Amino acid sequence: MGANLSYTRVDLSGRVAIVTGANSGTGYETTKALARMGAKVIMACRSQSRAEQAMDRMKSELPDSQLDLQIMILNLASLRSTVEFAEEFRSEHDKLNILCCNAGYIGDNFEVTEDRLEAVFQSNYLSHLLLVTQLVPLMKTSGPDARIVSVSSSGHQVFGKMMLPETNVRAAYSQTVTYGASKLYQILMTGWLHQRLRGTNISATSLHPGAVHTNFNAGGWIGLGIQLGYYLGISRSPEQGAASSIYACVNPELAGQENLYITDCHPATASSTARDVNNQDMLLDYSLYLLKDYITEEGAEALDIHLSALPTPPPEWLAAPTAE
Ligand SMILES: NC(=O)c1ccc[n+]([C@@H]2O[C@H](COP(=O)([O-])OP(=O)(O)OC[C@H]3O[C@@H](n4cnc5c(N)ncnc54)[C@H](OP(=O)(O)O)[C@@H]3O)[C@@H](O)[C@H]2O)c1
Repeated sequence: MGANLSYTRVDLSGRVAIVTGANSGTGYETTKALARMGAKVIMACRSQSRAEQAMDRMKSELPDSQLDLQIMILNLASLRSTVEFAEEFRSEHDKLNILCCNAGYIGDNFEVTEDRLEAVFQSNYLSHLLLVTQLVPLMKTSGPDARIVSVSSSGHQVFGKMMLPETNVRAAYSQTVTYGASKLYQILMTGWLHQRLRGTNISATSLHPGAVHTNFNAGGWIGLGIQLGYYLGISRSPEQGAASSIYACVNPELAGQENLYITDCHPATASSTARDVNNQDMLLDYSLYLLKDYITEEGAEALDIHLSALPTPPPEWLAAPTAE
């Protein structure tokens, strides 16, 4: 470890943030830090009871702070839930300054969502992309220095490869490669956002939090490895693991910058696959095709998306998730 994990404490009064997966791990600590700095933070969680427990715990850990927290239900394994979350958010709030796409999932086995998509691909990447398209129009009118932060992983370097066309195909599933690809896709989305948001008030960044002792893959062999690493002094605490997220969300010198990837609270270099503009465009064409029925006119305009001009992916890219 030994990294200098520090971020600037700034005054976030009057700013509104969303943190997905706010009830646990790095999302919990990121929420706590942003709220402590004065932001109103929306805890976007899939379980009301886990979110309420997390909110109570946060308030008991910071009894002297007036934390402005709100729970809203978001299940990233459902496109319908993601759209409903965004609609409810827009109906209740007139600005959004920070969107922290933190929630993440790693399955032990191949799982199919209600949208007939592979669950890790959808939860970690595709629904976060949908959230971005739904909320960017509001972020554009929310004043200077709005930020989209995606919690990726260095796993994109080791395991991440373009899994098009087989992203949704059962026979191509591998716990590590499928997860690595989803984390690669988050960085490719960040690069695509750089293309689409250049010159606006919104910047986008992705990051690796380190190996962090959280609920991530609890009971699975990856989670056990991280847990062991924690007791050996290799893995980080959730608080340390959240430092790069908080840095990306608030540090003033990052305002307006195009940082594709951050580790240890410093700009870093993502894999060449993650930096490839052709990969960005190919992935986004495919993803927007999958999301085309859920993208608003305002979202399409704000991100210069031309849905009618999207190429239809080859049939094998659209194979049903159960296909072998
Ligand atoms: N821990 C590490 O070593 C490590 C390393 C690299 C990257 N990361 C990334 O860091 C991020 C945070 O993970 P963590 O380590 O803090 O793990 P964690 O403690 O398991 O937190 C993950 C959060 O994501 C939420 N989530 C999972 N599936 C969801 C869904 N379908 N809809 C909405 N929320 C969902 C979880 O909700 P529930 O509590 O309801 O399950 C939880 O709040 C993830 O993106 C992960 O990929 C972690």
